[in-house]
Amino acid sequence: MMQTRASRSWQSDPAARYARRNGLDPSLPRATDRPARRPLAISNWLMAVAAMVFLMVVVGGITRLTESGLSITEWKPVTGAIPPLTQSEWQHAFELYQRTPEYLEINCPAGMTLAQFKFIFFWEWLHRLIGRLIGVVFAVPLVWFAAKRAIPQGYGWKLVGLLVLGGLQGVLGWYMVMSGLVDRTDVSHFRLSAHLLLALTIMAACVWVALDLRQLAKTGASRPARLNGSSVIVLAALFIQLLFGRGSRA
Ligand code: HEM
Repeated sequence: MMQTRASRSWQSDPAARYARRNGLDPSLPRATDRPARRPLAISNWLMAVAAMVFLMVVVGGITRLTESGLSITEWKPVTGAIPPLTQSEWQHAFELYQRTPEYLEINCPAGMTLAQFKFIFFWEWLHRLIGRLIGVVFAVPLVWFAAKRAIPQGYGWKLVGLLVLGGLQGVLGWYMVMSGLVDRTDVSHFRLSAHLLLALTIMAACVWVALDLRQLAKTGASRPARLNGSSVIVLAALFIQLLFGRGSRA
């Protein structure tokens, strides 16, 4: 007898074959028809975000080492993604920078040219651009996973918490820049410490939640990892070292 396409797919569907063998009605909703929790997909996505935050830490370090941090004197979260494109736009950005104490006291006496200004502008612009990208790469899939009801129970608030921490990091970045635009020639070391520590906290939290989700995907049981006594001591030592190491650097 000729097999129709429907009966062929019926035979090739393992879940349907299982239902038939066990006397179940294959037309009834199956476990896989429930909203699919996607722990592994969410874990992979968080690992990618953590990798981007790592890149951000590297670019942030370059921004600091090249003393580029105060070159962008305006806070334009959306339109600032486009750098100056014409000669007059560059001139305008340079003029704004020329009002800062860093320029007046350090770079003006050193004879900074527009080309040198463009160099420091590039690193700070790249740093902020990657920050914007991380925001998009985090927020868009989060909305998508939430709409698909794919977030496993107990993880929604953790993901929203990560989003809030990321937003806070952006605001803190600007708060830090503000500290260097008047009265002083560099950013406040306390704010810089907070910026660095929050960056590392966000990266660690992304990896932590991602590993918990991997475990959930593997075993089907949600057993979030906890800190034990010795890891608390190591973390506290690291925290103090980073806080004072950054806070005291001239
Ligand atoms: C996910 C977002 C961000 C991360 C992970 C991040 C991370 C970092 C890190 C690790 C550093 C180096 C700190 C150090 O050497 O102690 C840094 C520097 C810096 N960041 Fe960010 N940052 C982020 C967003 C921003 C934003 C949105 C701004 C500005 C609005 C900003 C402004 C700066 C500035 C100005 C510096 C250099 C400070 C200096 O002059 O020495 N950051 N960032």
